[in-house]
Amino acid sequence: MTDAEPNLADFAFEDSVAHSLSLRPRRIASKWLYDDVGAGLFEGIVASPGYYAARAELEILQAHGPEIARALGRGGSLVELGSGASTKVRRLLDAMPGLTRYVPVEISEAQLLEAAEAIRGDYPDLEVTPIAADFTKDFDLSDVVGDSPVLGFFPGSTLCNLLPENSETFMRRMHALLGADSLFLVGVDLQKDEAILRRAYNEPGGAIWDFNLNILERMNSEFGAGLDRSDFRHEAIYNTEAQRIEAAIYPLRDLSVTVAGQSFDLPADEPIVLEYSHKYTLESFAALAARAGWGTLNAWTDRENLFSVHLLTNRGPA
Ligand code: AVI
Repeated sequence: MTDAEPNLADFAFEDSVAHSLSLRPRRIASKWLYDDVGAGLFEGIVASPGYYAARAELEILQAHGPEIARALGRGGSLVELGSGASTKVRRLLDAMPGLTRYVPVEISEAQLLEAAEAIRGDYPDLEVTPIAADFTKDFDLSDVVGDSPVLGFFPGSTLCNLLPENSETFMRRMHALLGADSLFLVGVDLQKDEAILRRAYNEPGGAIWDFNLNILERMNSEFGAGLDRSDFRHEAIYNTEAQRIEAAIYPLRDLSVTVAGQSFDLPADEPIVLEYSHKYTLESFAALAARAGWGTLNAWTDRENLFSVHLLTNRGPA
């Protein structure tokens, strides 16, 4: 983060939106998209045909689950950051009969508790200890995992939604959270043909619109913004220089809104960015991980080279 760009995720929702609307371009922190409603809407994106990431990541987890299980050994704890509906993790759990504990960490408490209950039902021998927390903030795991071997799991390329400088800070913080000798399994989206990216992040009127425009409903219900979603459209562009998708909503006419007692203009066609989704190469992600002190044990891709999963070790770069 530069001085001109405060870490929007550090503020409460209304103050964060007020800061966002004074930035140019206007940019709301993407974590605010994931309230209970947003988390449910995101599952609609995951199921949509153009969104390759979830499918490709599952293929990788399915193919390499046994190797991942062997790297952790028996009696370990699997800590999933941003566990959502705890769907993908099932591929790992199926491959890890020797696992002792599953610790889902999720900001949306309703979704967390429902998912934890479902996992308990389907994996009765597993200790399931859900933690309702925002993984972008500090929290403690030591009471939960004790001295068991720990595998952190951060799937879905959520890391790609952080600015590169914040990704590095995040990866460094994970050392302290997951503990000495831990392993970290991270899903990372790859650079690819721009047409595939544009298709994945644009679905006019579809699940992506519902997901992104839900930010307006949240602003209305949490601080009475009085905005109408029919006054906005959604579009995601690919910024080739920064190698990232920039998803934004655009007012269809000149609007204004009052947030935290301040009035802001929302001119027609000026983007309000909701999400950056950075795309990496295997090498550029391994370099980022190494700068943050993680060594790469292995990195796998799906058959079409769309997505990657990296197995990292806390013992540092080789
Ligand atoms: C959660 N995150 C990794 C997704 C992505 O691909 O950046 C969010 C998303 N937004 C629209 N489609 C997917």
